[in-house]
Amino acid sequence: MNKTAKLELDGKQYSLPTLVGTEGEKAIDISALRTQTGYITLDDGYGNTGSCLSNITFIDGERGILRYRGIPIEELAEKATSVETAFLIIYGHLPTRAELRRFSDLLTENQYLHEDMTFHFQGFPSGAHPMAMLSAMINAASCFDEGLMHWQFGARNEFEVYAARLISQVRTIAAFSHRKSRGLPLIYPKKAYKYTANFLHMLFSMPYEDYELKPEVVHALDLIFLLHADHEQNCSTATVRMVGSSQANLFASAAAGVCALWGPLHGGANQAVIEMLQEIHSTGDDGSKFINAAKDKNSGKRLMGFGHRVYKNYDPRAKIIKKACDNLLKVLNHNDPLLEIAKKLEESALHDSYFIERKLYPNVDFYSGIIMRAIGIPVEMFPVIFAIGRMPGWIANYKEIMEDPKGRIYRPRQVYEGPTEKHFVPIEERK
Ligand code: ACO
Repeated sequence: MNKTAKLELDGKQYSLPTLVGTEGEKAIDISALRTQTGYITLDDGYGNTGSCLSNITFIDGERGILRYRGIPIEELAEKATSVETAFLIIYGHLPTRAELRRFSDLLTENQYLHEDMTFHFQGFPSGAHPMAMLSAMINAASCFDEGLMHWQFGARNEFEVYAARLISQVRTIAAFSHRKSRGLPLIYPKKAYKYTANFLHMLFSMPYEDYELKPEVVHALDLIFLLHADHEQNCSTATVRMVGSSQANLFASAAAGVCALWGPLHGGANQAVIEMLQEIHSTGDDGSKFINAAKDKNSGKRLMGFGHRVYKNYDPRAKIIKKACDNLLKVLNHNDPLLEIAKKLEESALHDSYFIERKLYPNVDFYSGIIMRAIGIPVEMFPVIFAIGRMPGWIANYKEIMEDPKGRIYRPRQVYEGPTEKHFVPIEERK
């Protein structure tokens, strides 16, 4: 029997139901609060607001735990591929061999874009940011399927096809966006290649000259996709749910997710980390000046790749990625001065009272950029890589929204602080 919370307001007592999630997360259900009391809750930035019930991902930020559908991220990182993990996240269980075969076949069958989409790519100026292209082209891709435009969620077969198409095509669009932004000829996907290898091929091959696929590189990028696959109600996933709640189609909702992901406080942080490390390197700073600036609120600087709304302990993905980063650089015999700076920064910040008191630890973006640099992925593509990785999470959250029997549109309220009623003043009387 769940407890009830007592609320006393304006001399009246109210009982609010509470609920406890499967991992012991406690919540007060305020869905009837306004009707009962006339009050709403105010939670700027949603730090204390549970916007939904979800079965997909569990995070315990205090203990540094992340699990997809119950399975710890460490186990998946060691034993699964990103495609297997995508299936797990979307459908709620690890795929059988037959399910994985079908899912992989659907990815392959859906990897080509409609050829007319190449004209859309031509319309972008060279140097256009690939995140702008990614978002626009995901949305555009939906226009090339009449069925998707009129699709009503519910037919499982169709959902399987559209989900696989989105996961597969986002990779093709991402690679084409890079090629276009650099003025390079488009390279089409190859049936023989698996998911991540195929992306690297489209990114780096040249006509008649295939990119040499090193297994360690393929594995490192696949791990980055896997580690980004979902992260519960972050800014972009909440956006996808918000847009999906209006019953916009899957592709439109995902395109909105890309826009939300773009900013430097979210998916753009991996790009911002490299830019920060480059700035430190080019000014000959050993990191100490930058750390001091990051602690000074007036400097406009933050230690990028540090801090997290939920993790108040080391981000478990950061641990995995730091190890992978060391391994890859060793295998590639790649000496990156930025890695040394990053390690020094981390060491200093972890012993600095400013960061200790605020529980600021490295997040997943702190080392992922160094891996991507070593692979040769240009910095403006970093948030795009994040978006490819996050697609299964967005799709699973969209599915959850569409399967919710209540199916209410998301519509927060506000506390208005603007002027009270005023009257229109004709232009000749205005001062
Ligand atoms: N460097 C310096 N100070 C920081 C940092 C940082 N990276 N992050 C937070 N702080 C400070 C804030 O100034 C604030 O200090 P105060 O209490 O003295 O005012 C305190 O720590 C709390 O910070 P908030 O901004 O309130 O934390 P919030 O939860 O809103 O923000 C965020 C989290 C956006 C991730 C923040 O830590 C940040 O900007 N980090 C750098 C950008 C980054 O790495 N983003 C990637 C996030 S992970 C992801 O999207 C995959």
